Amino acid sequence: MKRAKITIIGAGNVGATCAHWAAGRELGDIVLLDIVEGMPQGKALDLAEAAPVEGYDARIIGTNSYDDTANSDIVIITSGIARKPGMSRDQLLETNTKIVAEVAAKAAAASPDSVLIVVSNPLDAMVYTAWKVSGFPPHRVVGQAGVLDVARYCSFIAAEIGCSVKDVSALLMGGHGDDMVPLPRYTTISGIPVTQFISPTRLEEIVVRARNGGAEIVNLLKSGSAYYAPSSATISMAESIIRDQKRIMPCAAYCGKEYGVGGFFVGVPCILGKGGVEKVVEVELEGKEREMFNSSVGHVKDLVATANKFLPA
Ligand code: NAI
Ligand code: 2OP
Repeated sequence: MKRAKITIIGAGNVGATCAHWAAGRELGDIVLLDIVEGMPQGKALDLAEAAPVEGYDARIIGTNSYDDTANSDIVIITSGIARKPGMSRDQLLETNTKIVAEVAAKAAAASPDSVLIVVSNPLDAMVYTAWKVSGFPPHRVVGQAGVLDVARYCSFIAAEIGCSVKDVSALLMGGHGDDMVPLPRYTTISGIPVTQFISPTRLEEIVVRARNGGAEIVNLLKSGSAYYAPSSATISMAESIIRDQKRIMPCAAYCGKEYGVGGFFVGVPCILGKGGVEKVVEVELEGKEREMFNSSVGHVKDLVATANKFLPA
């Protein structure tokens, strides 16, 4: 069987840790690209040298040239600047739109049949940017945010109950972090509704912590944002696509008629398989949930309108 080829653009904290998780899972051959000379090469070599100890087989190279990324199956875009304490994701918009537009165009030209997974922030607008400049069909462009937000939420719930994280199952929708729409109705512990374990007031506190999960880590690190959980979330999406697992994951996916969104990328549950986003799953939203979702979509639309101003004509 042909080995998958995974290109990761941006070899910083998230990009390099994506390479780490992908190598460990033996997802395929990995190309780590950055504009900084020597750094992606150094990190790739370091990861390759860990292979005999960890026992994974993966060819890993670092590069500054898109020629080395040619014909990748998956391209993960993590390039751009990250938040510092006190900054919102939206404050990254101008710089990262220009970076993501440049790298997505080059990566798409080198790998015209790939699936793009976008991670750079502000996520929902960056997925749209990558889609616009790549010219790819929308199902081959997807953003990572929901898997991370759900992972944070589930980890806090498991800690609160004192149960295994493996038994917590949840769904969040809408934009990344500050804009996410919690759905306690769809949160269960081994099939038992979460409300049988945690009071509504305490659950609301947990939702708020998950919503601010990115800022909590930025404030602790002081010099950058989270990367272990974000990259783990990204690689689980890549795995579902490469191995055609058809997992249902909350991702920033293109919604045309779905949820009445009208042509934007927002966080919704979708089936990820060989073709990328194979289906957007439409769950029923009740009054308050629908209200929060619509407000989240409104914010995404505003961000995209601003991002459009920074896109090449
Ligand atoms: P970082 O600063 O450690 O790495 C970014 C890398 O991008 C740097 O190595 C930089 O040299 C590279 N880069 C910049 N311009 C480039 C270009 N034109 N071509 C190639 N490489 C270029 O930042 P980190 O922590 O890895 O975060 C990356 C992005 O991911 C940020 O925008 C951050 O906000 C976002 N992020 C998104 C998450 C999500 O859930 N969607 C979670 C965590 C981070
Ligand atoms: C996070 O949520 C910064 O988006 C990034 O950690």
